[in-house]
Amino acid sequence: MEFAKKILCIGAGYVGGPTMAVIAAKCPQYKVTVVDINKARINAWNSDALPIYEPGLFEVVKQARGRNLFFSTDIDAAIDEADIIFVSVNTPTKSFGEGAGKAADLQYWELTARNIVKVSRVDKIIIEKSTLPVRTAEAMGRILNANEKGIHFEVLSNPEFLAEGTAIEDLNDPDRVLIGSQLTPEGVKARSQVVEIYANWVPKEKIVTSNVWSAELSKLVANAFLAQRISSINSISALCEKTEADVTEVSRTIGMDSRIGKRFLMSSVGFGGSCFKKDILNLVYICQSYGLTEVADYWESVVRMNEYQKRRFVQTMLKAMFNTVAGKRIALLGFAFKADTGDTRESPAIEIAKQLLEEQARVVISDPKALDNAKIDLAPYVDSDRIEFVEDPYVAAKGAHAIAVMTEWNAYKTLDYKKIFSSMERPAFVFDGRNILNHKELFEIGFNVFPLGQPTLKHF
Ligand SMILES: NC(=O)c1ccc[n+]([C@@H]2O[C@H](COP(=O)([O-])OP(=O)(O)OC[C@H]3O[C@@H](n4cnc5c(N)ncnc54)[C@H](O)[C@@H]3O)[C@@H](O)[C@H]2O)c1
Repeated sequence: MEFAKKILCIGAGYVGGPTMAVIAAKCPQYKVTVVDINKARINAWNSDALPIYEPGLFEVVKQARGRNLFFSTDIDAAIDEADIIFVSVNTPTKSFGEGAGKAADLQYWELTARNIVKVSRVDKIIIEKSTLPVRTAEAMGRILNANEKGIHFEVLSNPEFLAEGTAIEDLNDPDRVLIGSQLTPEGVKARSQVVEIYANWVPKEKIVTSNVWSAELSKLVANAFLAQRISSINSISALCEKTEADVTEVSRTIGMDSRIGKRFLMSSVGFGGSCFKKDILNLVYICQSYGLTEVADYWESVVRMNEYQKRRFVQTMLKAMFNTVAGKRIALLGFAFKADTGDTRESPAIEIAKQLLEEQARVVISDPKALDNAKIDLAPYVDSDRIEFVEDPYVAAKGAHAIAVMTEWNAYKTLDYKKIFSSMERPAFVFDGRNILNHKELFEIGFNVFPLGQPTLKHF
């Protein structure tokens, strides 16, 4: 079959895989190839055990795979035949040298750009799908266009706004698709080609175009605003605990104000995920490098508040459990950074588990999808006899002094807490790091309940 366009995505991760699967499913007239240097990941994409868990993903992949969706490690061949290349490689925080701990590490992006130049024989459109610092497209344009083959690469920015756990829903019905380009005739022409892809299923009014710098910055700012809401309500949860106000009542009330809106106002043990912290620190670094110290400090405080919330959670546990958890069995319910994903990158559970292990607790990690990742995150402790990984929450809680909810998995809301209580040590504690359980009911069963930002319910 002759395809109308050949689209390539470099990077078969949480973004590249689902995004391209949806494009392929929606646009059978395009050939969509996804490549990665990680052979195991590509093999998994070609199998029935996909490398990431995401509701609805398998069905979409199955619909298009082998028809017009292909996963491969032959990066050079795929670059050569592609008209449009999305680059969705990872952009972690730099861990060395200038900007360490804040700036984005662009080495994977630059390597990819150099490879594109080496292999290409004709003009191509290159799209930043990864989240990148503002003005990266300029640097990439220089690297790509410094070739002696007379080939032109137009660099666009099309940041991805999907949320893990609802990626397929978000891709099928996005709030908006943003495509940034240079405002030159070539830039605008390239941009219209990318608009054409999304217009296959996204209503035109939701496809927003902008200059390339606004597109790059909008992604960082969107994540910063989302994380800021979480840190804001978490800061209020601390105040509620001192004043006997109830953070869920405060959230409900302020969320009813249409200017504020009700989403992202749930107090929790803290935000996680690969993006929020990294993208805010990246924003902070950019502000600092332009001398905007006050702006940088303002956004950095969102990350500081998140660290505080995690520390505070462990301090609450310690204080409640008579100032020591040494030797006590503590079951963590959930390890993923949010429900409906197996992703544990920057999950608050990592820090909480580590702090509890430092306090010499016996920690049992339980999660329906994230245990493999949890073992990697806690690798230095895996051989310790003070840590266990158990999928079944009933087994995890057996003999425990406390359970602590780390992830808002729906299944945890409907466990048989009477059964759990009867298998636990006394006094039995629940620390609800997501405020998802029925605290009154748990208290009536006999638990001592410590929600976030709400009065505690104790039997002593
Ligand atoms: N995860 C999210 O929810 C999310 C949402 C929006 C945007 N983003 C952004 O998208 C980007 C990718 O994120 P992710 O979560 O998919 O990362 P990921 O780590 O899951 O995937 C990146 C993939 O790129 C591959 N890769 C690295 N260098 C390569 C190279 N030179 N050639 C081929 N493949 C290469 C890696 O092997 C990996 O499989 C990041 O910039 C991130 O900030 C992520």
